[in-house]
Amino acid sequence: MTKTVYSTDLAGIQVGDTRISNVDGENGALSYRGVAIEHLIDRPFLQVVWLLLTGSEPDVSQETELQTFISTHSCLGKQELSILNQLPCTLHPMLMLQSLVPALELSTDTRITGLSENAHRGLLIASKIPSLIAAKHQMELGNDPIKSNVHLSYHENFLTMFNGRAPTASDVRVLDVTQILQLEHSFNASTFAGRVCASTLAPIQSSLTASIATLSGTLHGGADQAALEMAQAIDGPDNATEFVAKCLQSKQKIMGMGHREYKVVDPRATVLKPLAQSLCSEGEAKQLFDTLVAVEAACQSEFAKSGKQIWANVEFYKGAVFYRLGVPTHYFTSLFAMARVFGYVAHFLEFSENSKLIRPSARYTGG
Ligand code: ACO
Repeated sequence: MTKTVYSTDLAGIQVGDTRISNVDGENGALSYRGVAIEHLIDRPFLQVVWLLLTGSEPDVSQETELQTFISTHSCLGKQELSILNQLPCTLHPMLMLQSLVPALELSTDTRITGLSENAHRGLLIASKIPSLIAAKHQMELGNDPIKSNVHLSYHENFLTMFNGRAPTASDVRVLDVTQILQLEHSFNASTFAGRVCASTLAPIQSSLTASIATLSGTLHGGADQAALEMAQAIDGPDNATEFVAKCLQSKQKIMGMGHREYKVVDPRATVLKPLAQSLCSEGEAKQLFDTLVAVEAACQSEFAKSGKQIWANVEFYKGAVFYRLGVPTHYFTSLFAMARVFGYVAHFLEFSENSKLIRPSARYTGG
């Protein structure tokens, strides 16, 4: 007889195997395909994407094939732009992605040697997401979308389309690092949602949409927008202690703090905090960064009173980095999705090798 396990939040319950990434919550370590993130952040973005998707290091021709495939397919077609045009301008970018991803044109004659049909479909979606986000932003500003330039690198192209001007090499590198940190994180809520969807044999575009929808909540990816807006509302480091005390008294969560898996500091926050500090050295940006530091300190001291420890997660300082790149807060989570979609694709491919319906049961409490 099967032993019944009861858990409403699945905390600490292992629900499958993965070779894609390892979250070591006790030691605060994260690796993709066996390589620690600290060794990956200095690499070209698409080199890390290849490693994540295939489990092996790309040679020069594989990296070029991937770069060419992604840039060639990054332009939006007439129909895709027309659907985007019909959506309300005020629609949140995460809801826009949930509406547009299932409608993207996925046919292509181009092939990357050795990759499966589903890998191509996933990569086609991932190729178009930067253009979708950038086009929406330009349309919100009252401008026409800027066409993708196949001669630019992945993030240089994105920042150009998004902000309407060429970024500095240093901004491109900052985005590379931040997005590498966000590529993948094992069985987090959104990746798991994608695996559940894949387990019903739904197509990859449905699985990615389920993941993107799940990422948007403020307990998960949506915490990036919420954390920076919180820092803006606190309006200066001197107000942080009172803010934190009030939040904890009223059982409100401090956005960007705490993590289900990490019992020590989130290794992504360890990279992002000094990065944010170096970018936010003056003016409003410095005030925002200082406010975040003060909130983190106040949170830690409040929790210490009850013998608990709480640490900043990936979302806490990331917003300050995005802010310095000129990204409005309501676009933060869509940039997260733009990176994490590669992790979702890797999970769809891995799960599909040995697919089994995920279907838990409920304890009936009715009459
Ligand atoms: N602010 C205030 N209290 C917190 C926070 C927080 N950010 N995080 C944890 N706690 C407290 C809880 O109130 C709870 O206290 P209690 O035991 O007295 O009831 C205890 O710590 C455990 O918290 P839970 O929410 O039960 O732990 P869980 O593992 O479910 O939470 C979560 C993880 C949801 C991330 C939580 O820390 C949180 O809500 N953080 C804020 C939202 C956030 O930043 N999410 C992004 C996570 S990273 C990512 O998804 C990419």
